This record gives sequence, C-alpha cells and structure tokens, in this order.
Amino acid sequence: MPTHLIVLAAGQGSRMLSDLPKVLHRLGGAPLFVHALNAGAALEPDRRVLVVGHGGDLVRRAAAYDPEIAVAEQSEQLGTAHAVLCAREALADAVGDVFVLYGDTPFVTGETLERMAAARATHDVVVLGFQAADPGRYGRLVMAGDTLERIVEFKDATDEERSITLCNSGVVCADASVLFDMLDAVGNDNAAGEYYLTDIVGIARARGLNATAVTCDEAETLGINTRAELARAEALFQARMRAEALDNGVTMTAPDTVFFSHDTMIGRDAVIEANVIFGPGVTIESEAQIRSFSHLEGCHVGARAVVGPFARLRIGAELSNDVKVGNFVEIKNAMLGDGAKVNHLSYVGDADIGDHANLGAGTVTCNYDGVFKHRTVIGAHAFIGSNTMLVAPVTVGAHAMTASGSVITQEVPEGALGIGRARQMLIPEFATRMFEKLKKLKANGQKADG
Ligand code: UD1
Ligand code: CA
Repeated sequence: MPTHLIVLAAGQGSRMLSDLPKVLHRLGGAPLFVHALNAGAALEPDRRVLVVGHGGDLVRRAAAYDPEIAVAEQSEQLGTAHAVLCAREALADAVGDVFVLYGDTPFVTGETLERMAAARATHDVVVLGFQAADPGRYGRLVMAGDTLERIVEFKDATDEERSITLCNSGVVCADASVLFDMLDAVGNDNAAGEYYLTDIVGIARARGLNATAVTCDEAETLGINTRAELARAEALFQARMRAEALDNGVTMTAPDTVFFSHDTMIGRDAVIEANVIFGPGVTIESEAQIRSFSHLEGCHVGARAVVGPFARLRIGAELSNDVKVGNFVEIKNAMLGDGAKVNHLSYVGDADIGDHANLGAGTVTCNYDGVFKHRTVIGAHAFIGSNTMLVAPVTVGAHAMTASGSVITQEVPEGALGIGRARQMLIPEFATRMFEKLKKLKANGQKADG
C-alpha cells in the first residue's frame, strides 16, 4: 500500500517576529519544512502535500526544489483539521495511509515514522505521543491500556486531564479515505473555536475504530516557535551531525567548532580541523583533510585532497583526488583535476584546471567582464607563475607556463611560455644616489618636496 505525507505549514509563527514565514527559517541550512519532508522520506511516500498559508508564495517557491511536492493553500488558518482538509484535493483518489507532520517540527525521525507505520497494521489511527517533562499546553493523550480513547487540548482539558503527562506531538497516521471521512465530522465547538485534527481520535472510537499511540523521545517532537527555540534547535542539530560524523569514522579535532548542513557528506578517515563551516551541498571523500577556518558550500572534495587553512570553496567547486588548495584561496564553479595545486592567495572561478597543474601564489582568473562570466581552461601539468591574471575566456595548454606577473589575454599553446608584462629596465646606482640625496635633505631639516 502506498503512503502519502501531508506537512502542515500554514501558520504564521508570529512569535518569530519575522517577515519570513516560520517554516522558511533555516535549520542546518535547510528550511524547517524540508526537515519534516526528509523524515517522511523513510516511508517512501507516493504523494507529498505541503499545506501553505501565511507567506504561501514564498513557501511555494522554496518547495519548488522538488517539483513532485504538491502545494495546497489554506487561506484562513481555522485549525489543524481544516489544514489537513486543504490537502484533500491533492490526495484525491489516493489509496493507502496518510501521515500528517508539522512543518515546524524538524526532529521527528524516519525510524519513529516507521514504527507508526508498523502500528497501523493493527490500529486504524496511530498518533505519535511523548512523555513530556513539562506538559505545558500540549494536547493530552487519554489512554485506556493500549487504546487511545481521545486527545484533549489543554484549553479544553479538566484539571484531571491536565495532569496527564503523555502528550500529543501532532503526528498522526490513518488510511486516507478514513481520515478525510473523519475530518468531515470535526466541528469547532471548543475553547479555541478551531477545527482540531486531534478530534479524529474520539470520532474514530465513536465509530468503532481503534486507535493507539506510539511514543518517541521528547527531543524528536521539539517544535520551533521562537528565535530562541530555533537557536537551541540548531545547537541540537549540530550536536547530532557531529556525533554522526564521528560515528562514521570522521576525525574532528574540535567537533564543537565544526558546523554542518543537513546534507553534509563526509567520507571515512577524513580529518576536519577546528572552525570549519559546511554550507549546503558538500561532499568530502575519504582521507581528505579540511584544515582550520575553511568555509565550504556546494562543492565536492576528492579523496586525500587538502583544503585550507583559511580556504573558501563555493558552489560548483569540484576538487578531484589529491588536490591541494591552500590559504586564502577562493574557488567557485571550477573543476580541479587530480593532484592540481592552488596553494596561496588565489581566485579560481569558472575554470577547468587540468591534472597536476600548479597555480602559483596570487593567480586570478578574471572571469567577469561586468556583464558575462567567461571560462579559463588550463591544461594538465601547466605551471601558472605567481600573480598571473588570466583574462577569460582564455586557454593555457598542457605543460605550458606563464611568467610571473603576466596578464594573459591570449591562448598559450601546449608547451609554450606565455609572458605578458613590461620588460624590466636597469638604472645602475640610481637607488644609492637617491637615498643619499634624501638623507642629506633630512639632516638639513628640509622636506623632500622643497
Ligand atoms: C497542536 C495540537 C496539540 C499538540 C501540539 C504539538 C491540535 C488541535 N493541537 O497544538 O494537541 O500537542 O500541536 O505541538 O492539533 N497549522 C496550519 N493551519 C492551521 C493551524 C495550524 O497549518 O490552521 C500548522 C501550524 O503552522 C503548525 C501546526 O499546524 O505547524 C500546529 O499548529 P499549532 O497552532 O502550533 O498547534 P498547537 O496549538 O500547538
Ligand atoms: Ca505549536
């Protein structure tokens, strides 16, 4: 039976005090709602529906990274039941189970969702609950043995019900047509005047269906409502990523100073030194070394490559095996072949650098003419002299050289030397004579410009 996901993301998140819809705030470099979708990926969902409301256009645009995500509009936020009903059309004729997740609850794991799916085999409705250290204003799960009888919202609960510590995370699972049938029966006659998704449990029981709760650690159900909670969530997320990297055989000399993105991939025996930041889209192969104070995003680092200290790899930097990129080097949208070296103070953008090419200190690819970007192509084993400006589009052939300080505007063919700088002049004794004159002026208390 196929499975489908609904991620609720229509709320404004007014406590964020933000012009950005809450679910677009980022955790580990990805918008919050993406984390909910990623957790749901464990269920190999057939259809995925994101319910948007506040800032709907922005959220829709952010969801466009995957055209298979359907977006449903909830123009008025009348409650969680109403939000799920907004996904009905997108799930028309869907057979199988539906999981409802919250877009602002990023830590629910795929493993937990799989346990819920397993519980569905024997129950019509499965709710994800947790034992709350401080149950606060969460909805309470009213159990009778293994059976979940109903969920009561804090606002509507009696003192006795408020003393229950088993709380509702918000994640529910039921058969699609059963779920939508029950939602049709949900009213809004309650303390909040909202259509509560939680009411489906009581409705299911009244219809003779059975319901149960699967529980998870409270940390998984953490929702983000404020900037402070977002900051705490980021710290938690980073702690998880660091632990995972260490478990996977990555060496980190100071893990607390390394920052990951949701999709950072690091191979076994890679070494990550202190103060390294991974933006989204980074893959590091085995035995590579990322030295201190390097910043990487959207790039690939081959096996045994050494990057940094103080290197910046931007989107589209592709480092093959054994590449060396040293201090104060920026690389963007460029391919570096096996064993290529760019060790000092360089900018390499929109370029193809051949195997074992060596770019001297201060090499710059002048890739931008103010309107268009142009490519620089450097052949294998080429040797680029220090402080060469490569004015793209330009090609330096394999085994070719450029002289230090050259401005290279024309092709340098294979094996040739390209030299493009003023020829040196010599004036014997000039410096000696000039210094003598200046020192005399100083001794007489006069200025040089007299
Ligand atoms: C909800 C649950 C509560 C549970 C708690 C866990 C209900 C009625 N209550 O309460 O039992 O303990 O979550 O955090 O379901 N949303 C929409 N459209 C709406 C309303 C909400 O998309 O019309 C989205 C919100 O953006 C949010 C999620 O649904 O992501 C939860 O809504 P929220 O208002 O935070 O629910 P709670 O009152 O916290
Ligand atoms: Ca909430």
